[in-house]
Amino acid sequence: MDTCKIIAAGKAAAQRTVTNDDLSKIVETNDEWISSRTGISRRQITFDESTTDLAYRASVDAINKSGIDKNTIDLIIVATISPDFFMPSTASMLQYRLGLNENNVTAFDLNAACTGLIYAIQVADKFIKSGSVRRALVVGSETLSRTIDWNDRGTCVLFGDGAGALLLERSDSGIMADYTNSRGDAEMNLVLPALPLDSPFSSKLDSPPSKMTMNGGEIFKFATFAIKDTIDNLLRSSRIEIEDISLVIPHQANGRIISKVSKLTKIPLEKFYLNLSKYGNTSSASIGLALAEAMEDGLIKKGDKVLLVGFGGGLTWGGVIHEF
Ligand code: UT7
Repeated sequence: MDTCKIIAAGKAAAQRTVTNDDLSKIVETNDEWISSRTGISRRQITFDESTTDLAYRASVDAINKSGIDKNTIDLIIVATISPDFFMPSTASMLQYRLGLNENNVTAFDLNAACTGLIYAIQVADKFIKSGSVRRALVVGSETLSRTIDWNDRGTCVLFGDGAGALLLERSDSGIMADYTNSRGDAEMNLVLPALPLDSPFSSKLDSPPSKMTMNGGEIFKFATFAIKDTIDNLLRSSRIEIEDISLVIPHQANGRIISKVSKLTKIPLEKFYLNLSKYGNTSSASIGLALAEAMEDGLIKKGDKVLLVGFGGGLTWGGVIHEF
């Protein structure tokens, strides 16, 4: 029992379906541009559900699929860049919603943008291997629709709202390699501002824009580098050949990024699992949402080695190889 295994994956998508045609009524865009440049056909946007609500739905789905007693969960990590509050944390509110308030649970939010779920898996893995935690609930949950400038056609067509939740426990097999990395120097290419400096003791700065901004071209280049770098590092450290990986589940940002990576790494496109045409980019939710759907679709069998890989704001990137 020297590693940590994902025993179930749950998902929740926001209720309202927004098609590319719907967006063409809001900004100057069209289905042809969005589909061909990104691979996205539609996304789910929240009507009245919060980030905590989506996290709760995905978590209940994971708990039900696993059949475990929820009272054995003693660590909750929620990866998010769109929390309902800075405090309380989404993780603490999720603990309450799950009825685990009377239990000894370590609960906190984690921000590594779209790599958030990977970072959270890595942290949970270390907690579990240390022996201080029996079972961990690791969730990526986002309501990015509240962070988006709906007048900016360069970003508003890309994102969606949803959540993915994983249950992890100590096991003989499971995580075989993990890798994360970060680089702060190019951080202004993908920005979601927090509160402006504004106290009686600070110089008044111009209020920064409050919505997400992105230099799409730069992030595209970074993404292809980050996915390749992660795959190379994971294969090297685990001594696993790419032929032994049955599925690669990347952060779901843009189908063209994956086509480029496929050419660059010579990994066949069919090996990459994509469901972004239905959900768009759900940031830290996307890998969990995709994993849950791949499992529901019967694409992952016992013994399969699956590579999860994320990249995003920070800039951050990383991945894990997991044997199911
Ligand atoms: O989670 C990680 C975060 N994000 C990403 O991974 C995103 C990475 N980047 C991308 O996916 C792509 O760069 C985008 C999809 C954002 C943009 O695609 P692109 O092929 O890099 O297009 P572009 O930004 O170079 O824009 C090309 C043209 C421009 O018009 P002009 O200057 O050539 O006349 C844009 O104004 O497309 C225009 N454009 C649009 N046209 C119709 C930009 N957005 C739209 C739009 N509809 N929604």
